[in-house]
Amino acid sequence: MIKRETIEKIFDTARVEEVIGDFVNLKRAGSNLKGYSPFNDEKSPSFMVSPAKQIWKDFSSGKGGNVITFLMEHERMSYPEALRWLAKRYNIEIEETQQSEEERQKQTERESLFLVLEFAKNWFKEQLFDTETGKSVGLGYFKERGFRQETLKTFETGFSPDQFDAFTQAALKKGFKKEFLVKAGLTVDSNNRLIDRFRGRIMFPIHSMSGRILGFGGRILNSQLKTAKYINSPENEVYHKSKILYGIYQAKQAIVKESQCILVEGYTDVMAFHQAGIKNVVASSGTALTKEQIQLIKRLTNNILVVFDGDRAGINAALRGIDMILEQGMNVKVLLLPDGEDPDSFSKKVSSEDLILFLTDNATDFINFKASLLQKEALNDPIKKGELIRSIIESIAKIPNSIQQEIYVQEVARIMDITEQALFKELALVLKGQQRRQEKENQRQKQKQTLKPVEKQEKITPVVNKREILEREIIKLLLLHGTKEIEVEDWDIKEIPDDNSDPVIEKIIRKSIVAEEIYKHLQEDELQFSNPVFNRLYNLIITKILEGEATDLAQLMPKLNEEETRLISDILMEEEKYTLANWADRQIEVKPKEATLGWHVMDVLLNLRRLLIQELINKRKENLKDLEEETERINIFNDIKDYLFLFKLVSKKLFRLA
Ligand code: CTP
Ligand code: MN
Repeated sequence: MIKRETIEKIFDTARVEEVIGDFVNLKRAGSNLKGYSPFNDEKSPSFMVSPAKQIWKDFSSGKGGNVITFLMEHERMSYPEALRWLAKRYNIEIEETQQSEEERQKQTERESLFLVLEFAKNWFKEQLFDTETGKSVGLGYFKERGFRQETLKTFETGFSPDQFDAFTQAALKKGFKKEFLVKAGLTVDSNNRLIDRFRGRIMFPIHSMSGRILGFGGRILNSQLKTAKYINSPENEVYHKSKILYGIYQAKQAIVKESQCILVEGYTDVMAFHQAGIKNVVASSGTALTKEQIQLIKRLTNNILVVFDGDRAGINAALRGIDMILEQGMNVKVLLLPDGEDPDSFSKKVSSEDLILFLTDNATDFINFKASLLQKEALNDPIKKGELIRSIIESIAKIPNSIQQEIYVQEVARIMDITEQALFKELALVLKGQQRRQEKENQRQKQKQTLKPVEKQEKITPVVNKREILEREIIKLLLLHGTKEIEVEDWDIKEIPDDNSDPVIEKIIRKSIVAEEIYKHLQEDELQFSNPVFNRLYNLIITKILEGEATDLAQLMPKLNEEETRLISDILMEEEKYTLANWADRQIEVKPKEATLGWHVMDVLLNLRRLLIQELINKRKENLKDLEEETERINIFNDIKDYLFLFKLVSKKLFRLA
């Protein structure tokens, strides 16, 4: 774990406009910066960065946040990855907190593996580009296959010479420990003799989403040799075959931009497509597509196009892939290449333009794909046709969204010339079968766990209601105007009549501070925010202000989690959106409504209190139903009476105010 102090230092030092400026072309626009959205293609700029508030907002996609969230969204880094990236950019030394011995060891092991793998990648590159053998044998091979230098550099391909232990010796000499060379799978320890795993091979480094090297694939140069065409890194602490996608690092930007990920089988397929200008492409590297790989893609897009060879193996791989992708709630299209071609060979036979045309023209949805597998004549064979429909319905049953299911059922009905009712009946049958299996599975799990207490998993679903809007407004007031002085119109109670009629109140005007006013009101009723995120934010901000510190967003930021950051930038940028609309017309400066601030604060507070008191009364009334004991009932009655009085008071103030 990175130390709190380091995190704060990173937040203090990193400037959102500088970091985003590394990726997006930004121009001044008043106190903000604007640019074209890096998440969408657009004609007029709707991407805004506020240097003063250290936040950004992309109005075309709705995304927004601070410098960390930008790296997470744009570069697809994890939170710690983003912190480390920033530390590196700003030359900040990272201090880590104490970890348990086991954690520490695991962490160091991972870091050591990454170091070794990074070294190996650079070494293999050197062998390819800077040695005689590498240039003649390695580069020669790539050239013969039509790969350009530029492409090789992008994918950081390398070459391992056909020697016994050239790499291992080089690494040991650099001070890398044998233990990690072996764990990384680069060196094989055979009876204390250290041998290079990859010898006489073209090297394909496999990058993580954020560009770290996880492992390698090595291809033999001479296909006559009787050894495996490819050797891959063995499973270890960082290389998990089922969780990697070759090319994801080079493709992620394009995948987000194109809103589609093309999935192919091999290393060279990825490189060939990339070279042809189709950059949103990744490979499952010869393994059957896994759930983890699909989820990796899902972080970038919901749309996958599977491009496989037209042979039997390719078809079967596509069929398996389709169901897995549908199951993850994603959209899938399929394209089979002419028999005997793979993406690499095919892309080199046609021009880039023709390739793109071919892909767009021939990608079919999974229904048509399954239908196309059957010969045209077979559609007249009722048994074959029935099997086909059943198989399509089984795929549809995998889709988690029932509306999507319905759309596909309609599509099948149209194509297969069969009634929707018949298809829905079939779908219901399949779903029922699935459900029965699921229930059995659940029961088995339950029996296993009968001794353990069942934990309730309450899901918090965001409900946007009046209360939430008011709570949000309070956070906004605190953030933007917390320390400002306001004049508030208030009312003193002059008289409380005994007959339950309205209290008599008198208007006064007094000076106050926004945060203090908010605190006073909410404290009075011991009110809690309904939304836990608001509650935490409120407590963070209010303690700061009451302690006499201004709510400096930069200081607040390191304390916030992702959800809170997003919420804050959303709230704050609501104001900016207004400015954005007026960009074309620079003359207009939008001034905050300082003059009416006091009025606004009171309006929000009273509305919220009224709502909350109402809720408290309702709750008490509800309690009353279950109570038999007379004294308890009287207590609750009195409570209700008090709250009713408060309610009337607040209402009265509110309506006078309006
Ligand atoms: N593969 C593997 N081990 C093998 C064969 C294949 O790991 N013995 C993986 C590789 O990731 C390879 C992918 O499966 O890229 C697809 O295999 P294949 O189509 O045979 O290879 P190509 O990628 O087409 O490689 P090339 O064009 O160089 O023959
Ligand atoms: Mn190939």
